[in-house]
Amino acid sequence: MMKLAPSILASDFSRLGEVIKETGDSDVDLIHIDVMDGHFVPNITFGPDVIKAVRSYTDIPFDVHLMVEEPDRYIKQFVEAGADIITVHVEACKHLHSVIQLIKSYGVKVGVVLNPATPVDVVDPFLAELDMVLLMSVNPGFGGQTFIKSTLEKIKQLRRKIANQCLEVDIEVDGGVTTENVKEILNAGANVIVAGSAIYNKGNISESVREFKKHI
Ligand code: DX5
Ligand code: ZN
Repeated sequence: MMKLAPSILASDFSRLGEVIKETGDSDVDLIHIDVMDGHFVPNITFGPDVIKAVRSYTDIPFDVHLMVEEPDRYIKQFVEAGADIITVHVEACKHLHSVIQLIKSYGVKVGVVLNPATPVDVVDPFLAELDMVLLMSVNPGFGGQTFIKSTLEKIKQLRRKIANQCLEVDIEVDGGVTTENVKEILNAGANVIVAGSAIYNKGNISESVREFKKHI
């Protein structure tokens, strides 16, 4: 079963509360929230206070993607703000295993994120401890980029690893997903789809979600 996680990065920030409500009232499974620190990635978005401010607008779980250097410094704040899943970049953590443990200690779900240039084997030592692996299919920092095709092979490799170990780890794909390529991404073995511009660049959110789901 595929899960859809619209990325609010592409939405109208001037009415973020309503955006969260409309997204939550649509046929979506998660709301993907991109936190950027202007250091790990060359862009700045929002932090825990903004997430806390919009948390009450829906019951849909918040999937918080931390594009933040040394994210262990902020995990507690994001949990308190209402994150249900926290994903951290393997490239941004000095002691990745301890960050995974820290996130789990708060009772929220944990995922790790791999940039396009990071090989899938990096997850081997702790795959069994994860709820999700997020494969970036663009270089993180901005919405509206083009899907990097080599991600398809990484999805397949990761799906094989998960199957070989009889695990139930979600594979999320983030960046450049469109109605044209989503089927191929799911066929490769992903089951959680992030879509920013494909959902928010077209006006009515529920209609965009419905339209997007026709292509899966
Ligand atoms: C990029 C973010 C993505 C972004 C995806 O760094 O992690 O979540 O919002 O946007 P689209 O779907 O437009 O590529
Ligand atoms: Zn993201």
